[in-house]
Amino acid sequence: MKNHDFASLRDADQDTLVLTAPARTFQAPSSDSVRLLRNMVDAGGPEENEYALLDLLMAQLYRMKQSGQLAETELAYLQSIFHDDFLANSIHGYVYRKPLGYAGDFRLIDMIYTYHTFGHENYEKWDQYFHYHAATDAVRNRKDFFKQQLLGKLDTRKAPLHLLNVASGPARDLYELYTKIDPDKLVTTCVDIDANAIAFATDLCSPYAEQINFHQKNILRFSTAEKYDVIWSAGLFDYFEDRLFIMALKRLLTFLKPGGEILIGNFSQDNPSRGYMELFGEWFLIHRSPETLIDLTLQAGVQPEHISVEQEPLGINLFLKIQSPVPAAQVSLCMN
Ligand SMILES: C[S@@+](CC[C@H](N)C(=O)[O-])C[C@H]1O[C@@H](n2cnc3c(N)ncnc32)[C@H](O)[C@@H]1O
Repeated sequence: MKNHDFASLRDADQDTLVLTAPARTFQAPSSDSVRLLRNMVDAGGPEENEYALLDLLMAQLYRMKQSGQLAETELAYLQSIFHDDFLANSIHGYVYRKPLGYAGDFRLIDMIYTYHTFGHENYEKWDQYFHYHAATDAVRNRKDFFKQQLLGKLDTRKAPLHLLNVASGPARDLYELYTKIDPDKLVTTCVDIDANAIAFATDLCSPYAEQINFHQKNILRFSTAEKYDVIWSAGLFDYFEDRLFIMALKRLLTFLKPGGEILIGNFSQDNPSRGYMELFGEWFLIHRSPETLIDLTLQAGVQPEHISVEQEPLGINLFLKIQSPVPAAQVSLCMN
C-alpha cells in the first residue's frame, strides 16, 4: 500500500496544497483536503509525524464549518472518504455509526480507557490517532481525577462513604478505585439509563458486588430516600442543554448529605479535538467555560461560596465542585 509523503505531494502540487503555514487555509473542500484524507485512508492512517498536519486540517475544516464556508454536502463528501469498511473496523467508525444509538456510549468510553483498538491492519493507525487525541487523554484524565478525589476523602474517614455515581457507564473509574481501597469503606449506588451499560458495569465490578448496587434509570426520574456524601457524574452534563443541566443539578442537590460534595465533569471550550469529533464523528458535546458552569449552578440555587471549578491537567475536562453547607451544630461538633 502506498505510504504517502507530504513533502513530495507538496512538490507535485505546489499550486493547490496549502498546508505549510497556519496562516494559509484549505479551500473548501478543496482537492487538497480531499486528497489528503483519501491518501491517509489508503495508506492505512496517519503516521505519528503526520498527526500535526491532520490536526491542522481538522481545525481548519472546523473553522470553515463554523463560519459557513463548508456546506453540508461538502462535509458529507469529505465524510464519505471514510468508507463503509473503514467505518465497520475502526474506533472512528464506531463513533460515527453509534451502534447503541447515541454518542459517547459506555463501550466507546471503555475503549478510550483501555486504549482498545479494532486491530484491523488497514485501519489500526487510525485507532492510534484516535487515542492520541487531546480529548481522549482528557477522558482518561477524568478517571484519574475521580480516583484522586475519592482517595483523598477516604483517607481520613472512619465511617463508610456513600457515593452516588450518576451515568456510571462502564464504571471503570469506580472499579479501579475499589482495587485501591478497603472495599468496605465505600458504598456505591450507580445509575445509568442504558441496560447494556448496567450489565457491563455489573460484570466488571462483580468483585465488589456487595458494595455496589446498580439502577437502570434516567437520572431525571431516579428517586431515593438515601443521601450521599459524594455525587459524581462525568460524561453526562455536557450532553444537557442549560435547562436540563439546571433541572438535573437541582435533583442531585436533593440527594446530597449536609457537608457532602457534588462533582460534575463537563468539557471545556478549549477542546482541540472538537473539529474531528464533530465533523467526522458527529459527536456533539456542549462545551462550557468555568463561568458558565458557575452561572448554571447559581441558577440551580447554590450559594456562590459553595461553588468551585477544577480541571484535569490538560484543561479540557472541567469539574464543577459543589459543597453542601454543613449545619451549624455539626460545625461546632467538629471544632470541639
Ligand atoms: C459518556 S458515558 C460516561 C460514563 C462514565 N460516567 C464515565 O465517565 O466513564 C455517558 C453515560 O451516560 C448514560 N446516560 C445518558 N443519559 C442518561 C440519563 N438521562 N440518566 C442516566 N444515565 C444516562 C449513558 O447510558 C452512558 O452510559
